[in-house]
Amino acid sequence: MEGLKRQRVFDLLKGNANHMIEQEVNVKGWVRTRRGNKNVHFIALNDGSIIHNIQVVVEVADFKNEELLKHITTGACISVNGKLVESKGQGQSLEIIAREIELYGGADPEKYPLQKKGHTLEFLREIAHLRPRTNTFGAIFRLRHALAFAIHKYFNDHGFFYLHTPIITGSDAEGAGAMFRVTTLDLDNIPRTEEGKVDFSEDFFGKETNLTVSGQLEGELGALALSNIYTFGPTFRAENSNTTRHLAEFWMIEPEMAFYDIKDNMDLAEDFLKYLIRYLLENCPDDLEFLQKMYDSELIERLRFVTSNTFERLSYTEAIEILMASKQSFEFPVSWGVDLQAEHERYLVEKHFRKPVILTDYPKEIKAFYMKLNEDGKTVRAMDVLFPKIGEIIGGSQREESYDKLFGKIKEMGIHEKDVWWYLETRKFGSAPHSGFGLGFERLMLFVTGMGNIRDVIPFPRTPQNAEF
Ligand code: 4AD
Ligand code: MG
Repeated sequence: MEGLKRQRVFDLLKGNANHMIEQEVNVKGWVRTRRGNKNVHFIALNDGSIIHNIQVVVEVADFKNEELLKHITTGACISVNGKLVESKGQGQSLEIIAREIELYGGADPEKYPLQKKGHTLEFLREIAHLRPRTNTFGAIFRLRHALAFAIHKYFNDHGFFYLHTPIITGSDAEGAGAMFRVTTLDLDNIPRTEEGKVDFSEDFFGKETNLTVSGQLEGELGALALSNIYTFGPTFRAENSNTTRHLAEFWMIEPEMAFYDIKDNMDLAEDFLKYLIRYLLENCPDDLEFLQKMYDSELIERLRFVTSNTFERLSYTEAIEILMASKQSFEFPVSWGVDLQAEHERYLVEKHFRKPVILTDYPKEIKAFYMKLNEDGKTVRAMDVLFPKIGEIIGGSQREESYDKLFGKIKEMGIHEKDVWWYLETRKFGSAPHSGFGLGFERLMLFVTGMGNIRDVIPFPRTPQNAEF
């Protein structure tokens, strides 16, 4: 077949393709549908560059190879050379009158699972290798890309440096969740010490190692040198939580800033979230409109609402008072000192304030060792950002910069000094006030797509009992 430069469907439908009208172009992609009669076929072709298909018109009489046309069924991959023309049909601007078609790969209609009818999201999870070819997952994965790009752009434009923190870690000090062990030991023949314990000195790194639950501790080391850094990488939690908001492998964005106090930290979190949502509203309208039409009729309105309203800021103590005074009956009873459950967070956001909320100053017992202690001696300078439909989307804090206080806390919590000696040294040498937070990437993806299950906003979800694909 004649070698023309491939045009992306996006460029034909959204770019300025006017100069190509009446000329020969090439498109390649996957057949979504084929309809027509014995004289003319209409192929809806999609190459994933955009939610819309381009229509390819095939005049059967023009085609010598009628056998080939039989294989152009839903799911087949083809390359088309033909003339780009203004469409006479409704609903599309340009179409291609095919002159030559090459079949790259057929898709047996008896076997190809993505036939025209709408499939359930549950079924599509079982075919995660093919679901990117649906409109829904095409839209979600393009949005995921745009969101990742906007995150890097925001930080780059604000003078933050992207710091790569390790995936394999020798410290489990963070305490954010159960960890996945990393080992090359022969599990059928585990070396033992004299006391009968596993002898990790024989392991690959000569010590116990795990997959990281957070890049924060290393991120702090970066901030105490480069001032403003962020991480953006996969994190792992081995909790057996089978919910619509938890993954065993998820992506987290963790900015860490020297010289920021908790207020600066909140301001950054709010500005950052609003920027990201605005970026998607401006750059991905077609995909958002599709998801709104299919899954969540208030999606775009909700996104606009968040970008144009100030987040409500209040303390944990004030939140507890509101929850205790409410008439709502909660599954988990509320009193000062308890960790807030999703039902409490969503009550505050969806029923009481009806907008995003930032809660601060949590009891020290329910938060991590590194958070800065308040003057009351009971609460720490923590902040959680709570979103409608999601609950907690960000967790962060001002960090304890005093060596003595941090050291005391480590002893109190039974953390081994040998695991965090390097972290403690930053408080010994040139310590500085600093703050940071972690944004769950897939939690934000849930919010911006309107999807209800976190398994549907990451290409290949990892959850308990599930690591297929
Ligand atoms: O609140 P978390 O545990 O905070 C940290 O890990 C801190 N080290 C962050 C920091 O201060 N640098 O987690 C941060 C966010 C949560 O608010 C939530 O959005 C998300 O990560 N998250 C999860 N997302 C999906 N699946 C899970 N299992 C998650 N656990 C936390
Ligand atoms: Mg948290």
